[in-house]
Amino acid sequence: MDDLWNLPIKLLDISKSEDLYPNHIYEKPGRYQTMRSIVAKHFGTRPIKILEIGVFRAGLIKAMYNSELKITTYEGVDPYMGNESDPYTGAYWNDSNESNGVYLSSKAIFDKYSQPLHRKTSTEFHKTLPGHDKYDLIVVDGDHTYRQALWDMATWFYRIEKGGMMIVDDYANSDTPQVTKAVTDFIRLHRPNIKRMGYRSIEFLNRGKEIPTALTFVYFEPKDEIKRIEFVSEALSKNISLRLLRRVFKVLKPFLEKLP
Ligand SMILES: C[S@@+](CC[C@H](N)C(=O)[O-])C[C@H]1O[C@@H](n2cnc3c(N)ncnc32)[C@H](O)[C@@H]1O
Repeated sequence: MDDLWNLPIKLLDISKSEDLYPNHIYEKPGRYQTMRSIVAKHFGTRPIKILEIGVFRAGLIKAMYNSELKITTYEGVDPYMGNESDPYTGAYWNDSNESNGVYLSSKAIFDKYSQPLHRKTSTEFHKTLPGHDKYDLIVVDGDHTYRQALWDMATWFYRIEKGGMMIVDDYANSDTPQVTKAVTDFIRLHRPNIKRMGYRSIEFLNRGKEIPTALTFVYFEPKDEIKRIEFVSEALSKNISLRLLRRVFKVLKPFLEKLP
């Protein structure tokens, strides 16, 4: 049984691991380790094509290559903006000089694996992508505001190959409540197209904090035959109000539930 007076927590050996997420000083179990084991369990040694939305310091690509996974391609998408419209300014960097520095070091890591890092937002990248291009694994971890997080899920879910998986980061992370809400709405609306879902949670400690918090990875496998529910991502990208969107959800819910 755990000790009642268990703070400050004991930092584990994992704090020295190369897998540790840059903003954390403690993770249990490791964030990248957990992500990698979800992917390994699902794909085994099958060759996989990966897309990561939101790359930051390119820690995940290193962890993925440092495994038994058979990666055929690994594309990253991140705008590294650092301007006022960037939700990460003030948290990950203070201005575009700093974000540019992070871009250059992450690009060097992608270059090492001969893989492309696209300096674009998820929406910009999607516009450049041929309609039939799909991935076995898509990790959604970009802009964590409600509208963009829901757009990402509602868009990228339909770019998963048969038997593939979309992993969404930061569900139930108290720092990112809008992601939690977006995941809930994504499931509500796209349930008829989801074959299987799963989750894994980790506990972590951010620099400057004494008490750990938690986050949950949620992952989805699409059905082999999917019915496109495209209007959601279109509506989101056209700036249709969220109130209107929620009303549409409500009206459509009974019909969606009847879909085979
Ligand atoms: C939480 S970090 C990603 C962490 C990374 N996936 C990892 O596991 O180490 C979020 C990243 O999303 C990027 N980002 C912000 N807005 C974005 C957008 N619209 N599209 C894609 N990425 C975005 C940020 O620049 C930031 O680097």
